[in-house]
Amino acid sequence: MSQIETILKQCSVIPVITVREIDSVLPLAETLVTSGFTTLEITLRTEISYRAIELIAQKLPHVCVGAGTVLNPQQLLDAKKRGAQFAVSPGFSQMLVNIAKHNEIPYLPGAVTATEMLLAYESNLTAVKFFPAKAMGGAETIRSLAEVFPKFIFCPTGGINLTNIKDYLALPSIPCVGGTWLVPQKLISEKNWSAIKKIAKETQDVLSQSK
Ligand code: 3PG
Repeated sequence: MSQIETILKQCSVIPVITVREIDSVLPLAETLVTSGFTTLEITLRTEISYRAIELIAQKLPHVCVGAGTVLNPQQLLDAKKRGAQFAVSPGFSQMLVNIAKHNEIPYLPGAVTATEMLLAYESNLTAVKFFPAKAMGGAETIRSLAEVFPKFIFCPTGGINLTNIKDYLALPSIPCVGGTWLVPQKLISEKNWSAIKKIAKETQDVLSQSK
């Protein structure tokens, strides 16, 4: 099993986090970790994202922190340097796949069509992010793709929430999902950790029902 597959199979949910204030990083990460979410994706969409990855890697070494929204090779290499244990892209790039391989970075590219899946397959990859999941047909589309690519596992993100998470995790090809419903921007900017903890608890309740 590849390293990225191991990471995906160890969690049911990856909170996809966009942080704008450095002093929010640890309280937010600790809130999620104490709620049972120990694999976290920090998107590279803000100025502080690399510092956030570094802070989590240094202060919370038991957390599996990854970089999300990786769009170019430099971001991939910088994220690794700052302590990211995995990297995620929204789409498929052969160049990023090659660089991740060469630098031994567990890497999850995006793929939503059979053509993109074939490209991943040709690169000996069998795990992909399926984004934007809801807009691309949700669990039904993944069910169809999984029939022709039975070795693949998928991490869907985009439009996943407490109501539809079960539809995804019911499929054997989906070990985990990603999303922002656990970490809404409004609550992060208000530093409302108790509200985030409440959503995390609701998520854990849904997860335990779907097992
Ligand atoms: C991502 O960054 O992976 C997605 O934008 C998350 O989508 P969501 O906000 O609908 O959960």
